Amino acid sequence: MRKVAIVGVGQSPFGRASDRGINELAWQAIKQALQDAGITQRDVGFVSVANVGGWSAEPLPAISVNEYAGLTGVGTYRVEAACASGSAALVTAANLVSSGAVDIALAVGVERMNESPTPTAVELIGRAGNYFWEFDMFGLTFPSYYALYATAYMNKYGATEEDLAKISVKNHFYASFNEYAAFRKRVTVDDVLKSRPVAWPLKLLDCSPITDGAAAVVLASEDVARKLTDTPVWIAGVGYGSDTSNLSKRPDFLTLRATRKAAAEAYKKAGVDPSKPVKSFDVVEVHDCFTIAEILAYEDLGFAAPGQGYMLAREGETYKGGLIPVNLDGGLKAKGHPIGATGVSMAAEITKQLRQEVPAERQADIVKGMGLAHNVGGTGHYTYVTIYSLQKPG
Ligand SMILES: CC(C)(COP(=O)(O)OP(=O)(O)OC[C@H]1O[C@@H](n2cnc3c(N)ncnc32)[C@H](O)[C@@H]1OP(=O)(O)O)[C@@H](O)C(=O)NCCC(=O)NCCS
Repeated sequence: MRKVAIVGVGQSPFGRASDRGINELAWQAIKQALQDAGITQRDVGFVSVANVGGWSAEPLPAISVNEYAGLTGVGTYRVEAACASGSAALVTAANLVSSGAVDIALAVGVERMNESPTPTAVELIGRAGNYFWEFDMFGLTFPSYYALYATAYMNKYGATEEDLAKISVKNHFYASFNEYAAFRKRVTVDDVLKSRPVAWPLKLLDCSPITDGAAAVVLASEDVARKLTDTPVWIAGVGYGSDTSNLSKRPDFLTLRATRKAAAEAYKKAGVDPSKPVKSFDVVEVHDCFTIAEILAYEDLGFAAPGQGYMLAREGETYKGGLIPVNLDGGLKAKGHPIGATGVSMAAEITKQLRQEVPAERQADIVKGMGLAHNVGGTGHYTYVTIYSLQKPG
């Protein structure tokens, strides 16, 4: 198998895109990524488009996005793995390069969620838990699923609403330095605690927003990458995991088994010591769709022991300069979560971090040259853990 590197990245501003259709939104990201890589549409061998849709009018966005972007005729498909669609699109595109099928592939994620009113978007996401037993029978939506995780966690380990709030404060802080973030206003613990209740203990400022946005990355084979750039960002390992859709078939609400499996696999492939993964990474992106999700991710990725993840938040250890800097772009909470775009945007962020191209206030110290992106779909239905490195993997 050939080694694969990211050689170009781009993204649209996240937030509300009422002035741009889905194709134009995607083009904003694609154009930047092509320019960053120093290539044109003619060089692209395949386009993998992540989009969940349902809330937006365009049912076959892979074709219309490519048409708008001058990529008609190139091999393409649409990829869906719920909120992990972006990582799934990236991994399938990388596999096409790795196998030798193409030399350059583009992974694009795009979502225009605000085409529907928020309650419709929330309902459509809710149907993606377990439709029959959980949505139809009990009306569970995603804030309520993650509220179940939060109450179970707080009850067992003694974490507080303030601990959850600290995740939001950190992510809003870093979003204030990110020109692409949906929310650039800093918040305090008090603001979070006083924000509107959504599903106790989660409040408005514990939740990621309904978001429009797009991201794109250019993936290239080793030969091509070396010609295009001096700083290829290599894919050093990818791990996959999945779980039941039905929460009642899982042993507890304190961990996502899909993440544990995906992390173990990615660490093995990238040569990361699973007993001390924090030692390997300069910067990490985790799937903080709700504040509790970031704390669970700390534990499932092995950054903290079970029941200790909230202490990392309490002690500020996931800020820049701490034990392990997490979500220095604002995360899903404050950068936003345009579902299909999220995983691709994580890859773009880790790439820019490793290339030391983000504003100083949120630039991690790059010493080890490695970063990680953790992208979860559903309530833990799918997880992709992708490890990126400045060193070519062995
Ligand atoms: C939390 C949530 C229910 C809020 O929805 P809502 O109460 O209907 O909010 P609205 O869209 O009507 O927005 C109302 C206001 O709150 C703000 N807002 C909405 N969501 C926000 C959020 N998550 N964080 C901060 N502010 C938010 C809006 O900007 C708007 O502000 P304005 O009045 O100043 O314009 C909704 O954003 C949600 O369901 N988020 C989770 C999405 C999700 O599940 N994604 C998949 C996870 S895996």
